[in-house]
Amino acid sequence: NRIKVFSPATVANVACGFDVIGLALDNPGDEIEMWLSSEPGIRIREIHGADLPLEPSKNVCGVALQALVKKLPDPLNAGFEMIIKKNIQPGSGIGSSAASAAGAVVAANILLGEPFPKKKLVRFAMEGERLASGSAHADNVAPAILGGFTLVRSYTPVDIVGLPTPPGLWVTVIHPQIEVKTSDAREILKHKVLMTDAIKQWGNVAALVAGLYRNDYGLIGRSLEDVIVEPVRSILIPAFQELKIKCKEAGALGGGISGSGPSVFMLSTSEEIARNVADVMNNIYQPLGLEYHIHVSTVN
Ligand code: HSE
Repeated sequence: NRIKVFSPATVANVACGFDVIGLALDNPGDEIEMWLSSEPGIRIREIHGADLPLEPSKNVCGVALQALVKKLPDPLNAGFEMIIKKNIQPGSGIGSSAASAAGAVVAANILLGEPFPKKKLVRFAMEGERLASGSAHADNVAPAILGGFTLVRSYTPVDIVGLPTPPGLWVTVIHPQIEVKTSDAREILKHKVLMTDAIKQWGNVAALVAGLYRNDYGLIGRSLEDVIVEPVRSILIPAFQELKIKCKEAGALGGGISGSGPSVFMLSTSEEIARNVADVMNNIYQPLGLEYHIHVSTVN
């Protein structure tokens, strides 16, 4: 029997939470169709929507699945076959590789009768991230697997905490069609931070979490500030400051770079505001003559 899993795009970092906070969108998302076969091994039969390797050891789905198989309590006398439909463009900054890796391990876990709890699957999907970007961060795969907002309390050992999603939260994402590789966007970061910046950043992270628990949209908005990573990465994104200022004027709570960019996200408290924010993004980007896509979605 075949199953089909929808695995959503995600916004990593959510401004202040570099490598630790992420949220899942309700669209777009990749689709993974998977079934078991009697022949052991992993076979990626087709990939639609992107030019990616079919060879399992070079594909994030294959690598994540291999990590899962290695941790099965009993040896497996079956193999996995899959078809991948990419609806999230690779390199967009909304967790394209994470969605595929997460979808693959979720699908396999269902086919095997759920030997692993969902949080455990995050560890396997992180191997896909290691392949895609050289770093096994979990702030995209965790929300892709668990939904809503998630926090990575620790990487050694991996400790994932689900966070509440306040009702009526909308996300507007603009994806400029320029290439920013996650590996490059990590390379340019400084390895030391100032104590004064660290104090601001952990104040914001803690307040964002408090805002999510209290449905305090004002507090969430004030917390969407990144004084460590954004100042370095934002130079890669056309009209970044203007986007931030004008989207907030249009009613957005705030936002920042989505993951390692080039996408930029804004949170709003209603669909109407989220769509106004999309219009503002359009007005800023249209004259630039750059190709771009805008997604409006709820947190899911
Ligand atoms: N936290 C990671 C980064 C996410 O910002 O590099 C990459 O999608």
